[in-house]
Order: sequence, then structure tokens, then C-alpha cells
Amino acid sequence: MANELEKENAAAAALDYIEDGMTIGLGTGSTAKYFVELLAEEIAEGLVVRGIPTSLQTQRLAEELGVPLVDVEQVDRIHVTVDGADEVDESAQLIKGGGAALLREKIIANASDLMVVIADSSKHVEALGQFPLPVEVTPFGYTITAKKTYDALCQAGILRPMIKVRTGANDQPIVTDGGNFILDCQCGVIPDPPKAAALLANVPGIVEHGLFINKCRVVIIGAPDGATIFEY
Ligand code: 5RP
Repeated sequence: MANELEKENAAAAALDYIEDGMTIGLGTGSTAKYFVELLAEEIAEGLVVRGIPTSLQTQRLAEELGVPLVDVEQVDRIHVTVDGADEVDESAQLIKGGGAALLREKIIANASDLMVVIADSSKHVEALGQFPLPVEVTPFGYTITAKKTYDALCQAGILRPMIKVRTGANDQPIVTDGGNFILDCQCGVIPDPPKAAALLANVPGIVEHGLFINKCRVVIIGAPDGATIFEY
């Protein structure tokens, strides 16, 4: 329960980055859910903003709560994206994709003037890699892509990465909103995240990976009695 309070407090602190008239990228996951709920309360009290959801799950939540949405193809500026993370290090490098939404999350974060990450304290780490790195791959040739992913991670200095296709009901691979599969790559420690990101970006079959480098400028870590804000 402590983590839930931390998540909610982090989400509440992110409201300080929201102003009337903004277009807001809405992240995915349990922490982002708190943000969407709090945003909906502000909208009910008169805040005028519109959201771009990063997953069907967040889209449904926003619709239920009456958060106005805009079609991503119709938007010319995204002022801020508020999203969760699976891990965030001291340089604001992230692992994302635990909720399988990393592709849309990265497209929207990359197009935003500002990315704000909200997380409970368990996500704040010295080095990335304890959380298995999600990598989104095309279903076609995914076993070949998994081998090439292994090679890329080894080249990035990761010792014996362990790669598993993420499965759901009936042990079948889960399918992302974009129709792809997810490889979960247990790395232990990722010694050089930018190098790993660059190597993964070169593997055919990888649609996107969950390393977010140089994208996030504000990290809000929740605490039981508030939140700490790091600006980069
Ligand atoms: C979804 C994500 C989420 O932001 C990440 O998994 C954190 O989720 P939660 O807030 O539930 O811990 O990247 O793809």
C-alpha cells in the first residue's frame, strides 16, 4: 500500500506541470492511472486540456473519466507527457515497457516538449537492468530477432542476458497495441545504456526497445508524505 500512496503523491505533484490549453501525453500503467484520475478531477473543476493516450488501456480510462482526447494524427504540438517507468536512474535514463506500451509511449514522449516521469521510490535505481528490459519485436522471425537481440546486448557489455518472450493466457505471446511481441531481457546491470540503446536500434525486427535515453527532463519520486522532484 505504501507504494500506492507514493505513486499517487508523485502523480499529484505532476499536476504542477499542467496548464490550461495544453495537449498532454497520457502514459500507461498504475502510476499513470493515478495521474489520469487526478487530471480528470481538475478538468471537472474547469481545467481545459486535451490528452493523447499511449495505449488502448489509457484511452478507455480517459474516456470513462471524461478526459477530452485528441487524435494523434491531428495534433501539431504536445506540450508535456506524464508517464510512469519501471526503472529510472540518476541521469533520468529509463526502462519502460512493463505494461507493453513502450512503442506508443516513446513516440509520444519523443514528440513532447517535456517528459515528466512519475514513480514510487522502488523505481529509483543506481543502475538500470534489474527490471527485465522490454523489447518490442515483429512476430515474423521473432526467434531470429531474439538471438540478434542477445548478441546486441552482449556487445553492449551485458553478461549472459536472459531473453524470454512475454506470454499471457495459454502461454501464448502477448500482442501489443501495435500487433507485436515483447521480449523481456534480463540484464542484471546495463553498464552503458546509450550503447545498448544504439545497438538494439540496429537489429532488424526490433520495432522499439524500452530504454529511454535523453528524453526525460523531470523525475518525480513519490514518498508517503509528498514527492521529490528532480529537474534535468
Ligand atoms: C508501460 C510502462 C509503465 O509506465 C511502467 O511499466 C510502470 O508501470 P507502473 O506505474 O504500473 O509501475 O512503461 O509500458
